[in-house]
Amino acid sequence: MSLAPTWLSGDAWRRPDSNIEGLFDSDFYLDIAKRSEAAHLDFVFCPDTLFLRMEALEAGPGFSSLDPTMLLASIARETTHVGLLTTISTTFLPPYVVARQIQSLNWLSKGRAGWNIVTALAGHENFGLPAMPSAEERYERAAEFTEVVKLLWESYPQEALKMDRASGRFADPSLVQPVDYAGKHLKVSGPLNLPTYGRAPVPLVQAGASPAGRSFAACVADAVFASTPDREAAIDLRLDLRRRAKGYGRHPDSIDIMPGLSLFLAESRAEASELFAQTHARADEARKFATIREMTGLDLLDWPRERAVTAADLPPPLDKPRSRTHADLLRRVIARETPTVEQLLWRPEVIGSAHWQVIGTVDDAIEAIRDWTEAGAIDGFIAVPGGSVSSLHLVLDELVPRLVEAGLFRESYSGTTFADHLRQ
Ligand SMILES: Cc1cc2nc3c(=O)[nH]c(=O)nc-3n(C[C@H](O)[C@H](O)[C@H](O)COP(=O)(O)O)c2cc1C
Repeated sequence: MSLAPTWLSGDAWRRPDSNIEGLFDSDFYLDIAKRSEAAHLDFVFCPDTLFLRMEALEAGPGFSSLDPTMLLASIARETTHVGLLTTISTTFLPPYVVARQIQSLNWLSKGRAGWNIVTALAGHENFGLPAMPSAEERYERAAEFTEVVKLLWESYPQEALKMDRASGRFADPSLVQPVDYAGKHLKVSGPLNLPTYGRAPVPLVQAGASPAGRSFAACVADAVFASTPDREAAIDLRLDLRRRAKGYGRHPDSIDIMPGLSLFLAESRAEASELFAQTHARADEARKFATIREMTGLDLLDWPRERAVTAADLPPPLDKPRSRTHADLLRRVIARETPTVEQLLWRPEVIGSAHWQVIGTVDDAIEAIRDWTEAGAIDGFIAVPGGSVSSLHLVLDELVPRLVEAGLFRESYSGTTFADHLRQ
């Protein structure tokens, strides 16, 4: 379950029951985390960015958010089972700090921390960088960064702690080793100044599906947070990631594919469509055209709304799009579906994060999930509810129990760590 309040995006925050005033209050998120735990979900998840979208701030939060790791630490104390997936970019911060933050969350939650590894899309100006490093450079650093973080976690194992009052021996320093890492981007001596909690590994999740992103994920990730707006995109991605993982000597089942699933749910399809339309009622058209232009190089501003956009209209792929993943998905939908300009303006590739989308009833959502599961498109999904608080509650209070009834989801937890849930 995403804790990013996607159910308040667009105009949904203006609904009387949105509780938007609680946006920066831990109680707001705690309620959802507790409901998620009662539904036996694997984890709650906070995406993150390190910049403010000023152009969006007048009409909505524009990426204003609490620090995800701190927020999850406050949730850790009030929950016992649900995994806590934080997002930290490898592009801006030092790995020693990040290794310690995540391991602190792991202690505070007794083995429930997870790390969503992102390379970030923007924000360099907040860290003294002259420009955003290229995707290649970011992934190169991400590989080093992840290796260093894992080495730091190994550098001070819990077994080193002796805490023997009689002999006065607190720890066995011979079990604590420096990491002495010297790479192209990073130089870290170690060891970490915090032991590692227990033996269960901290699950690593990755987001970013360019060829470089896929290779990185296939090498290190236990799960991938994916943008797959259609079933075939998910099948292709899942097969490719499993093949790449095998190429790195891993078992293909060791990597799970979890697309974001945007759920606009209501009692009837008509109400759900209305919810979707209301949410996007003030969507900035100029911004949508700019998005298409920035991702594909195609300027559709003067095109008639009913004209179809086809693969032949597409300029060659841009050399350095902001997100290769999202640019490729937009090109893909144009080539596959030849949508009209009007249809394109409402596609998830343009108005959202290119996530899989169900606008309908709980039954519709179950059918879609069953279909994608049976087609081998997914190992799970990250629920991204949209439209209203009631849509969010339908996901947790009705959809998940119905998935259990259908034999598609667990009835109860069998372990207590995040790693336990991911493999159950
Ligand atoms: C599904 C998905 C979710 C992402 N979530 C975040 C995020 O929360 N924070 C962030 O800084 N970047 C996020 N990213 C950006 C990626 O980490 C990466 O920087 C970007 O996609 C460029 O990599 P690519 O060339 O592999 O697409 C996300 C990307 C995808 C596809």
